[in-house]
Formats: sequence, C-alpha cells, structure tokens
Amino acid sequence: MGKVIVIISSKGGSGGSFTAAGLGVSLSKRGKSVLVIDCCTGMRSIDLMLGVSDRLVFDSGDVLSGGCHISDAVYPSDFADGLYVMPAPLEEDISVSAENLKHLLDTLSDSYEYVLADCHAGDLAYGLSRYFRTIIVAQAGPLSVRCGNRVFMKCREHCGNDIRLVISRFDEKGFFSSACFSDLDEVIDKVGARLLGIVPEDEVLGLAFEKGLPLKDKSKSVYALDRIAARIDGIDIPLF
Ligand SMILES: Nc1ncnc2c1ncn2[C@@H]1O[C@H](COP(=O)(O)OP(=O)(O)OP(=O)(O)O)[C@@H](O)[C@H]1O
Ligand SMILES: [Mg+2]
Repeated sequence: MGKVIVIISSKGGSGGSFTAAGLGVSLSKRGKSVLVIDCCTGMRSIDLMLGVSDRLVFDSGDVLSGGCHISDAVYPSDFADGLYVMPAPLEEDISVSAENLKHLLDTLSDSYEYVLADCHAGDLAYGLSRYFRTIIVAQAGPLSVRCGNRVFMKCREHCGNDIRLVISRFDEKGFFSSACFSDLDEVIDKVGARLLGIVPEDEVLGLAFEKGLPLKDKSKSVYALDRIAARIDGIDIPLF
C-alpha cells in the first residue's frame, strides 16, 4: 500500500499547496510514483502549480459521483517522471465527505507510492487526519501559528495522531527582526506538532508555480523540500 499524506494549510496563503506541489516534485525525483490530489473544492491550485491546468476535463468530483473512471481524472505532470495530479472540482456546491474521500485515497494508494492530499483547514481535513499521516503547514508568524495550533487541536480531536509541522515561507532575517517569537522552538511549541522541516521563502519557485513552469535549476526551497521528502521517504537526515 502506498502512503497517503494529508497536507493542511493552517491559514490561507501559508504555503500549503506550495508544499504539497513541491513535495510531489521532490518525492517523484526520488524515483517514487506520486499523485497530488487537490482537495480544495472551488479553490483548486495544484493543477496550475504543476502545469496541467490547460488539459483538465474531469476532476475528483466526477470520480466521486461516478461520472468518470479514476484514470480519467489523473493528469501526468511534465515536472517529473512519475508525478500525477488529480484536480479538485471548480464548483463550490459539490460537497465531499471525509469518508468518501478516504475511500478514494485508499483506492489511489494501491496505484501510487505516495498520495499527497492538499487540503484547507476544516472538517474534511480533520476527518482525514484520523486515517492518514498529516502535515500542518504554518508560517512562523503569530496568526499562522495560532491557526496552526487550532488545526493541530482539531486533528487531535478527530483522533489524528501522526501529525507533523512544516514551517513555510521562512525568512530568517524577518523572523528575528519582528521579535514575535524568541526562537523557532517557541513556534513549534505553540503549534504543538513535531517539526518535519522548514521551507524558506523563495521567490524563484513561487513564481515558477504561479506560471505552472518547471524549474531548470535548484532554488533554495527546493533543497529544503528535497530534504523533507527524503525524511518522509524514511531517510534519516538531520533537520538542519
Ligand atoms: N516558500 C514560498 N516561497 C515563495 N512563495 C511562496 C512560498 N510558499 C507559498 N508561496 C506563494 O504564496 C502564495 C500562497 O501559497 P499557497 O497557495 O501554497 O498557500 P495555501 O496555504 O495553499 O493557501 P490556501 O489556503 O488559500 O489554499 C502562492 O502564490 C505561492 O506561490
Ligand atoms: Mg492551497
């Protein structure tokens, strides 16, 4: 069985989708088959970030309603061999339950070594955290940290117990000059989840994802995402 990982953005714009897309690329560059499934109904972004948006016909809503076969809603990304995307429905009125989505994720995990589910904070994501490894993505600022802790507590309420933190969009200079927290340990303690890695703010990859274009050279956040992917893949490398 492949590994399903639920990636939850603590607060809008924290870098949840960036992390899901980036980890998808990094894991597939390790030779793994990876499906990144966008679970943000009405607000999808993974299709654009991974360069498949102009080919879309079907999405996860069509699969769940029986309107198409699973393979019809899976699009290979040119960013890496073995990387695939399943887009979320564009229409907000399509409601998807955690149980239905869990069933789909279980089925998908028969075909891919990793299935990364990009989620907004909310009941759907908390419900999934009960069944799968979960990564909370939060920035190292007071608002995102507070939301990150709320997401952590909600996942725990839903019996999620394998919950990790990725600190995203990290800018070391800004972090210390703002003096909101004394150090990163305080950020980690306040969110409550164990740290899996830190992704720096990186205009180069941010712009590439905005344009849906692959990167030719490694940028600074790619190094960080590669290290997180290695740790997810069971390689024992230090955090820093
Ligand atoms: N590490 C980063 N460096 C530079 N830009 C980033 C980084 N992480 C995210 N961004 C940019 O910030 C914006 C918001 O990121 P993203 O869409 O990943 O956030 P999100 O948490 O998924 O938001 P939402 O909850 O609304 O889905 C995007 O334009 C993205 O490219
Ligand atoms: Mg997102």
